[in-house]
Amino acid sequence: MNTWVKDAIVYQIYPRSFKDSNNDGIGDINGIRSKLDYLQQLGINTLWLSPIYDSPCDDNGYDIRDYQAILSKFGTMQDFDLLLEECHQREMKLVMDLVINHCSDEHEWFEKSKQSKTGPYADYFYWSDEPNDLRSVFGGSAWEYCESRQQFYLHTFSKKQPDLNWECADLVEKIEQMVDWWLDKGVDGFRVDAISFLDKSGIEAAPNGSFATEACVNRPKGHQHLQHLMTKIHSRDVLSVGEINARDTEELLDYILPSRSEFQMAIVFTPPEVEVFHENLNRYYKEQLKTRIEVQQQGAWNANFLSNHDKPRQVSLYGDDNEFWSQSAKALAVLNLTQHGTPYLYQGEEIGMTNCYYDDISDYDDIDTLAKYREQLALGMSSNDALAMVSKASRDNSRTPMQWDDSLFAGFSDAKPWLKMNDNKSSINVDSQQNDADSVLQFYKQLIQLRLNSEALKTGETSLYDTEDAIIAYQREGDCGTYSIVVNLSNEMVSAPHIPLLESAELVLGQELSEHLPPYYFAVYKS
Ligand code: GLC
Ligand code: CA
Repeated sequence: MNTWVKDAIVYQIYPRSFKDSNNDGIGDINGIRSKLDYLQQLGINTLWLSPIYDSPCDDNGYDIRDYQAILSKFGTMQDFDLLLEECHQREMKLVMDLVINHCSDEHEWFEKSKQSKTGPYADYFYWSDEPNDLRSVFGGSAWEYCESRQQFYLHTFSKKQPDLNWECADLVEKIEQMVDWWLDKGVDGFRVDAISFLDKSGIEAAPNGSFATEACVNRPKGHQHLQHLMTKIHSRDVLSVGEINARDTEELLDYILPSRSEFQMAIVFTPPEVEVFHENLNRYYKEQLKTRIEVQQQGAWNANFLSNHDKPRQVSLYGDDNEFWSQSAKALAVLNLTQHGTPYLYQGEEIGMTNCYYDDISDYDDIDTLAKYREQLALGMSSNDALAMVSKASRDNSRTPMQWDDSLFAGFSDAKPWLKMNDNKSSINVDSQQNDADSVLQFYKQLIQLRLNSEALKTGETSLYDTEDAIIAYQREGDCGTYSIVVNLSNEMVSAPHIPLLESAELVLGQELSEHLPPYYFAVYKS
């Protein structure tokens, strides 16, 4: 793996919500260009863009109509070329989202595949005469009837996202050509979407009532397809990260062990509900940390993240977006930036953006949230309870427009944004944090510099201290020093754990250890 990948601090942009340059209420490429200085000053050296390709946007761009065109709402290919050039001028890398498990039902391939059971595109998708009742990720059947072919097609996600058939050599060739085309343009890698779902051959045989999230993931042929594609991609100087549904460490390692030639690292997907309704999130988090350490011990690299466009906001989920907002946002930043692997930040995390808590279902846009809401109503839940339930896990929590300042639409746009702004834009925004030395934003800047300048934090050995649930404490040991990190991930005062700090240990961030640690206490020591 190239050293730049290990040194990368990746910032995920959800283009629709980042910055609107032409005041139509939708973020766009020129908006991103106008914020490159901001990102550079933050210390970011790599951007990952959620999909910007032409799409009917049934799932906000994760349903691609044309892989080699830009969604006109986001700009033009010329705008993209300028963005790429301006990133490279700043020595920033640009990583694209690659959605190749499925495309849009409006993609030319599907339009043609629909027409005939025998034509050249006939096998580009999974067609069946007798489907089973496999359940799709967004709810309902994973099969949809198509009148013109008098057959059903498979869609693991929405019915506007038909699954591509990787058994079809022609299709694979087309995908490889498309990937090459982007690499020739100079993009610096790919975050590969929903890739654990790649192989669905013979899925009709799955037992009735199976969920796609179980039945369709991590099947053997998926790995073969992937190895072929990724070996080709890795012949270039790129970053590769797979979005992986792994049920255990072994399944994860199958994707990221260097010997497998699949991904350099994984973003492990967990359905938001699993975390939101977990009885003990700290214990859950610690289990994840143990997996991370195992991954490191096996010689693999990984991706670190607390947030993305599919999750609630980290400060609302793991921290406290009320009384201890700033303190908990900083404590979480420490966890995200002091671990082994490449850290990923999600837009707005650096200013501590929170969940949106809308009290009307009509304010939500996310296809997944709306489908789950309807599902609960159909099961007999009251509309209030259904709203309370889906809003906690809603992906819109992280998709509200970026809060740049305290103006009407928070400096995101002059027009009403596509998704309602979060009400707290006046208290949480970039502008007010830029000049406040104690702000979450300034803290991120400091922490990013600390990481960039420390081999121990990037690649050092990790050992976890055995502490009670609320406390997360670990050591990162490198050739030029050792860091000890202690975080109280609870809103209560807790007794300090016994951490055998070396005498030479100096506090570099946070507060000195004492007998009792306040809510969301954190410390980073170096010796
Ligand atoms: C991934 C994306 C998510 C999308 C899904 C289908 O999980 O992160 O946003 O809905 O794949 O493409
Ligand atoms: Ca716009």
